[in-house]
Amino acid sequence: MDVTATLSLGDPLEPARKATAEMLQNRERTFSLPQPFYNDERLFEIDMQEIFQKEWLIAGMTCEIPAKGNFLTLQVGKNPIIVIRGAEGQVHAFHNVCRHRGSRLCTSEKGKVAKLVCHYHQWTYELDGRLLFAGTEMGADFDMKQYGLKPVNVKTAGGYIFISMAENPPAIDEFLATLNHYMEPYDMENTKVAIQTTLVEKANWKLVIENNRECYHCGGSHPELLKTLLEWDDVTDPRADQAFKDHVAASAAAWDAEKIPYAHASFGLRNRIVRMPLLKGTVSMTLDGKQGCAKLMGRIKNPDLGSMRILHLPHSWNHCMGDHILVFTVWPIGPQETIVTTKWLVHKDAVEGVDYDVERMRKVWDETNNQDRRLAEENQRGINSTAYQPGPYSKTYEFGVVNFIDWYSDRLLNNLGAAPAAYLKGVVTQ
Ligand code: FES
Ligand SMILES: [Fe+2]
Repeated sequence: MDVTATLSLGDPLEPARKATAEMLQNRERTFSLPQPFYNDERLFEIDMQEIFQKEWLIAGMTCEIPAKGNFLTLQVGKNPIIVIRGAEGQVHAFHNVCRHRGSRLCTSEKGKVAKLVCHYHQWTYELDGRLLFAGTEMGADFDMKQYGLKPVNVKTAGGYIFISMAENPPAIDEFLATLNHYMEPYDMENTKVAIQTTLVEKANWKLVIENNRECYHCGGSHPELLKTLLEWDDVTDPRADQAFKDHVAASAAAWDAEKIPYAHASFGLRNRIVRMPLLKGTVSMTLDGKQGCAKLMGRIKNPDLGSMRILHLPHSWNHCMGDHILVFTVWPIGPQETIVTTKWLVHKDAVEGVDYDVERMRKVWDETNNQDRRLAEENQRGINSTAYQPGPYSKTYEFGVVNFIDWYSDRLLNNLGAAPAAYLKGVVTQ
């Protein structure tokens, strides 16, 4: 008997896949997407299968599983995943599904185990996924080698853990090598999560990312954030004035002297890294612009590192300052429901109440996240209207959104096995 054979009722999504590809091939570039992309149950399922189950996702940080047996779990659509530190220090990822009768294996969010033991009938797995024990009732010819945990691709770089459920995940090593280099000053193995928040937004995940990819809305919505954030992330931005360019040049000279990477690096449209100064006189995303944590990270001596912004599509943006790092990840849970997690990382030896005050450190991004949640939710409500039709993005203010939608369209068409849209010919999105 082929134990891996699966029975299937056929793919009820097939007509929707075809219609999705056609809508993308014929969409008007630089316009928001047709309504079903933001609220349709079938299209949500296609997003999960073709984007979230095939692309690389940030599962967490290596500092969250520092020692052998430390694990974290996450839920990607229908798929429970476990990420665990193995005996030799390597990071493994598995489907968190017991090979006996399919129970979810690890039920807590984080923890430490000697072995992975299913709570249902106590099948027991090694940290590398091998089945070690299946009770005594399985018969003499039971082959334990056939029942290891199903692996998930995993790579680590710069303190981040990336996973992909794809059989052949997209190439990412070039970005990861650069990420390693840019994160070196932070000594990410010696950091800790000071606070973590989870926000449920009643909006499609793409609206959450679209909102994050532009600061057109910042002036009207983010008074706390704008106490420190400089909106532009490139001196080539047509809105950038001379004072901004001078500020960037002075900051860059200081960072060069300390061997702090800052130059803009892009990898197709999926990944970009750039360090930009914060507003003159401010060093961290706090209400007063002063450090949120007195102890600086890693080997950093100069608190004024601005913010290194890391984009990882489909679902993460990050701000790395001198004193703390913010890691945002976006997890779709329904066509109109998305979780945004935010982690504040500090030096592992920073002491709460001495080096940092949690309330003070989290204030700006708590407010900002909440403001963005309201924006995304109102966007969703309007898009659900029969009156909605795709609207034009500003090429100056919303080029980041255009890039995201171009990346998304191209990846979805590619992963659906469909022909690329004509307008994307020559655009490098990978
Ligand atoms: S389902 Fe896990 S041991 Fe039975
Ligand atoms: Fe925002």
